[in-house]
Amino acid sequence: MTSFRDAINAGQLGEVQELTVLRGGRLLTADAAPTVVDLVIAGERVQAVEPVGTVDAGTVVDVDGLDVMPGAIDLHVHLRDPGQTHKETVETGTAAAAAGGTTLVCDMPSTQPQVTSVARYREKIASWSGRATVDFALWAGGTDPTALAAMAEAGAIGVKIYMATSPGFEELYSPDAAAVARVLEVSGRLGWAVAVHVGDQQASDAHRDRLIAAGRRDPAAVLEVTRGPGNLSGLRTVLDLATATGQRVHLAHLSAYGLGALDLFAHARAGHPGLTAETCFPALSEEEDLVTQGVYVLPTVFSATARRRWLTALADGVVDAVATDHAPHTRAEKDRGRDDAWAASPGYPALETSLPLAYAAMLDGELSPQRLVDAVAGAPARILGLPRKGRLAPGCDADLVLFDPAGSWRVDQATMRTKVGWSPLHGRTLHGRLHATWLRGRPIVHDGEILEPGGGHFVRRPGAGDADPGRG
Ligand code: DOR
Ligand code: ZN
Repeated sequence: MTSFRDAINAGQLGEVQELTVLRGGRLLTADAAPTVVDLVIAGERVQAVEPVGTVDAGTVVDVDGLDVMPGAIDLHVHLRDPGQTHKETVETGTAAAAAGGTTLVCDMPSTQPQVTSVARYREKIASWSGRATVDFALWAGGTDPTALAAMAEAGAIGVKIYMATSPGFEELYSPDAAAVARVLEVSGRLGWAVAVHVGDQQASDAHRDRLIAAGRRDPAAVLEVTRGPGNLSGLRTVLDLATATGQRVHLAHLSAYGLGALDLFAHARAGHPGLTAETCFPALSEEEDLVTQGVYVLPTVFSATARRRWLTALADGVVDAVATDHAPHTRAEKDRGRDDAWAASPGYPALETSLPLAYAAMLDGELSPQRLVDAVAGAPARILGLPRKGRLAPGCDADLVLFDPAGSWRVDQATMRTKVGWSPLHGRTLHGRLHATWLRGRPIVHDGEILEPGGGHFVRRPGAGDADPGRG
């Protein structure tokens, strides 16, 4: 049989349009050691992976010395559009994603209006269309069980359940195990991804009130509640429900709940492999960043011990995925917490730093190349059931990042794309430098410059009202 390489070299594949060969890059994959290859892209997809220097056709791009890996898939972002565009917009948030090497963002339903019906779901798709620089998928809000099937059919990537509430999230609130069980039951039939923000709002509120009564208004008090018995009992409720029903459940931002949550999750997962979890990349430190930045790094920050444990969990695959929970709040919204930490909005922007941090950890020997690729791309694609995303294998979308392992990068909030214009990692120097980001076969970022804004597509749940799974 003639190989693709022989055929193309012999000019026998004249019908293949827009052939691009990325020549001589070191390909990082989830399942094998890195190898230097020719990556052949036809149009939007990977066509073949061939030995280096063996394909001589189309446009050849020399990427000698660079690492090539799948673009990151971020399961959990808050781009705030529509409704809170003073914080972030589709344009600024997806530009930040592209600049940070993320080629697919999955936006949470906590936009305004909250996405709890198919009408709102469709409005959100329409309002994002033509504006995103990377591909995007949208989660459905899971409070009304009768609304779920229609949102799944409209392409929702999965359903997000909130067992905690706060201003702006009221309609997304599932207050107890019974409410969660109702959404899980319908979701089992729909076969889509289910992500849960765990909690026990009443228990956490009571805990907070006790600390306030004791005069506590410091950032560590907020951390105590976030990692406290309310959220851990909410986590136990979900782990038990999922285990009892055999339902697949994904735990959102598990690392926010501390090492107690990691232990509970690891134990439950050993008995129920349908459980998955995400952590933000563990970089911000309790000993330094919390001291110097206070509420700016709430609610997720790591002691040196915790950082090692979460990294090990990622390295061992106990925790599946890295997701940012990109929560852009303005400085003013953070500064409200200067004298009273309870008043600060929770979360921080992370889309531009997440993959560069994980890549730097790989260069520093803290994470294998295989686990890096799986945690940022392979596992998210599996959790969402997207066969063409998250891998650079023949037939997959050519969404990729080129990193210069010999370079380095100083995080500078002045040049960041996120609308809020600050980063808790400002000033940090990281090993490795993101050289370029490609989306479906085309470069969208090169050397920090956005080349092609607005080319992102809506990625729908496979099988949902579309014969072409993996994208809309
Ligand atoms: O810290 C957080 N902030 N966690 C969430 O899940 C929501 C987010 C936000 O929307 O601000
Ligand atoms: Zn979130």
